[in-house]
Amino acid sequence: MSKLKEVLGKYECNKVLDVGTGRGEFTQILIDYLKSYDEIVCIDYSDRTQALIEEKFKDKNVKFYNMDCAKLEFKEELFDAVSISNALHELSDIQTVLKQMNRVLKKDGIMIFNEMYCDNQSAKQMSHVKLHHFVAKLHRLNGRTHNSTFKKEEILDIIQTLDMRVLDILEHSTHEDQLKASSDNITEERLTDIDDNISRLTNNFKETEYYDELVKEKENLIEYIKDNGLFSATELLVIVKK
Ligand SMILES: C[S@@+](CC[C@H](N)C(=O)[O-])C[C@H]1O[C@@H](n2cnc3c(N)ncnc32)[C@H](O)[C@@H]1O
Repeated sequence: MSKLKEVLGKYECNKVLDVGTGRGEFTQILIDYLKSYDEIVCIDYSDRTQALIEEKFKDKNVKFYNMDCAKLEFKEELFDAVSISNALHELSDIQTVLKQMNRVLKKDGIMIFNEMYCDNQSAKQMSHVKLHHFVAKLHRLNGRTHNSTFKKEEILDIIQTLDMRVLDILEHSTHEDQLKASSDNITEERLTDIDDNISRLTNNFKETEYYDELVKEKENLIEYIKDNGLFSATELLVIVKK
């Protein structure tokens, strides 16, 4: 059984709020692994993925709202569980968002945090961390809030500010987890794909003073990935109770 299923499979949640849903990767995990749920409400301040989410989860009792998680438009204590996955590092004011998540969570409800982190990763996983940090830098140059990912202890410190009881902590998507699933090196095709994507993003800065530096950084990054391969960074799942 997957480690995530073992942990999430303990929780029966009627109404779930998933904050910063993006393309719904974590929503899919909630659907697959929670013991049960009645409804999952997804929010994201970008409406880019609304159609995708509505189509992808059309028979799963999932709703999507285009909403800023710093200003949740839900009444107090509406949800049995509130989750946030790989979005903490994209927030400009984490404490405001935590207060909002807490406000809409029922007493005895659970908060589910899932976040990749940047320290203690293998060389192969550092490819993902470096790739992520490069894309985050490009987003910042475009004026969007997207910080580098946190260290594991920094994530725990943030969660601790809620002063809630920790029910579960799990590290998943570790180097070893991924070795079990596949030991393949990165294919030429995947590498070309990554190169094309980050080149396209970098080209948006052609007319700026940063361009030459960004091209060098991009080339170093591709070299690193070629030499070391690519695994996802380890993620930390923490469940706390209100
Ligand atoms: C890296 S994606 C994570 C997607 C998904 N939760 C997952 O784990 O795969 C982060 C998402 O957070 C969203 N986000 C960032 N700041 C937000 C805010 N203030 N309000 C709502 N969504 C936000 C972004 O638009 C993006 O879709």
